[in-house]
Amino acid sequence: MESFYVTTPIYYVNARPHLGHAYSTIVADSLVRMHKLLGKEAFFVTGSDEHGDKIVQAAEKNNLPVKDFVDGISGEFRSLWPELGIENFRFCRTTDAAHEKIVQEMLQKVYDAGDIYFGEFSGHYCYGCERFYTEKELEDGCCPQHKTKPELISEKNYFFRMSKYLPWLKEYIETHPDFIRPDRYRAEALGMLEAGALEDLCISRPKTRLTWGIDLPFDTKYVCYVWFDALLTYISGLGGPQSQDFARYWPGEHLVAKDILKPHAIFWPVMLKSLGLPLYEHLNVHGYWLSKDTKMSKSLGNIVEPRAMMQTYGQDAFRYYLLREMHFGSDANFSEETMVTRINSDLANDLGNLFSRVLSMTAKYFSSIVPKPAAKLEQDKAIVDLCVQSMQNYVQLMQVIRSAEALEALWELVRALNKYVDSEAPWALFKAKEMERLGTVMYVLLASMRKIAICLWPVMPKASTLMLGQLGQKADEHTAPVKTIMDEITCFGGLDAGTTLAEKSNIFPRIQR
Ligand code: MSP
Repeated sequence: MESFYVTTPIYYVNARPHLGHAYSTIVADSLVRMHKLLGKEAFFVTGSDEHGDKIVQAAEKNNLPVKDFVDGISGEFRSLWPELGIENFRFCRTTDAAHEKIVQEMLQKVYDAGDIYFGEFSGHYCYGCERFYTEKELEDGCCPQHKTKPELISEKNYFFRMSKYLPWLKEYIETHPDFIRPDRYRAEALGMLEAGALEDLCISRPKTRLTWGIDLPFDTKYVCYVWFDALLTYISGLGGPQSQDFARYWPGEHLVAKDILKPHAIFWPVMLKSLGLPLYEHLNVHGYWLSKDTKMSKSLGNIVEPRAMMQTYGQDAFRYYLLREMHFGSDANFSEETMVTRINSDLANDLGNLFSRVLSMTAKYFSSIVPKPAAKLEQDKAIVDLCVQSMQNYVQLMQVIRSAEALEALWELVRALNKYVDSEAPWALFKAKEMERLGTVMYVLLASMRKIAICLWPVMPKASTLMLGQLGQKADEHTAPVKTIMDEITCFGGLDAGTTLAEKSNIFPRIQR
């Protein structure tokens, strides 16, 4: 069986999960489910990034011992995901003993290869980013991300010979056009490499300044830099480079937002190269969820609570909105108004209405039993063709994480089916007692609706299961509804005449505001 592996960022536990974290993790879940629908074995790694200054400072602010503090927030991340219908993940903590062991092994390996050296260093340290900035990188003397003045720190540290690999990396990115996607982020990464501002990476922190980290195996007076530690979760989550899962699942896909492009586009490939490990497949970079055109962040007090949204609008509608509204790579504005509009138009009006009309008509005309189709007319064949086309586009776009366009492609079919109901007017056929023709029309509708419900499993697992249940199909939200969706694309039908259906459907009620 083919395999598929993807990761989310390993989230900092200095603050509780918000919409931005939920989005990346929902994308990972939908991707894994899509690949399961393609018949693959698939899962993702997510987790919590728990070392470093930032975490220690947050624990102090909350008057808690660091360990208690990280246990609490890490637990909140882990328990939130299933509430959002997110499954098939391994949750890794950077404080897990197994992870710490792998980080130490990897550090030793890089050290033995001669890629780590000891040196004196003075630099501008930003606590928010947990890293040093060079003069050239600062904007008006401030950190470009946090707009705060970094602290000038001078100390002896260990350095990773990153600069040695940069010409190789530049060539690799140039010759592998979709290594970093969408393209604008590839261009940004190349820009970083061309600017010449990158130096060797400081990968240690002296214990005189920070003890909350993983000991360097070759000098226990130092702990490991938090990014060097956290990035390795992507392979420790598989059990490390010697494990069976690593052989089976690596290289995988990474999902991140643009805030952490640099460590993923520059540090991580170079680390893998130095370790002699294959590079990841693609770095998939998304934009920010904004609130009134400003990035959501705890410090600005404009964060959206995913749990509250899900409780108000439902798990499926919330997932649908996020995956439909954000064009992967670009920023998107979050507002409850746009969410309600989206839910009412796409889910209640288009999809919900289709299910409700077609099921109640089948109840009335055929006692909720799927009729046998007779010969298809041109308009029926057009629907069958569109069904194949929409599904093909949908599956292809979902795989390259363009869920907004993928759903748009599927909605072409949903809208066409509603129009087909209007133009074929089953009520008129019934009145005219044209039962054979009526049976064909209802069959074309029902069989297409089954395909749509299958397609939607990665996006709305619960609703997909409910829709399939109403169409008399055995389904559960945790298991892919078919062995492989490719077989469903190539053959229309798949719904047996004689199947008993639900008499009515109200899966997506309109939201009144
Ligand atoms: N700990 C590092 C990642 C280490 S990965 C080896 C980190 N953590 S974080 O908690 O700050 O998470 C950043 C990620 O959260 C982003 O890359 C993105 O996936 C998600 N988001 C946080 N805020 C976001 C938005 N406002 N919009 C979209 N996603 C954002 O960085």
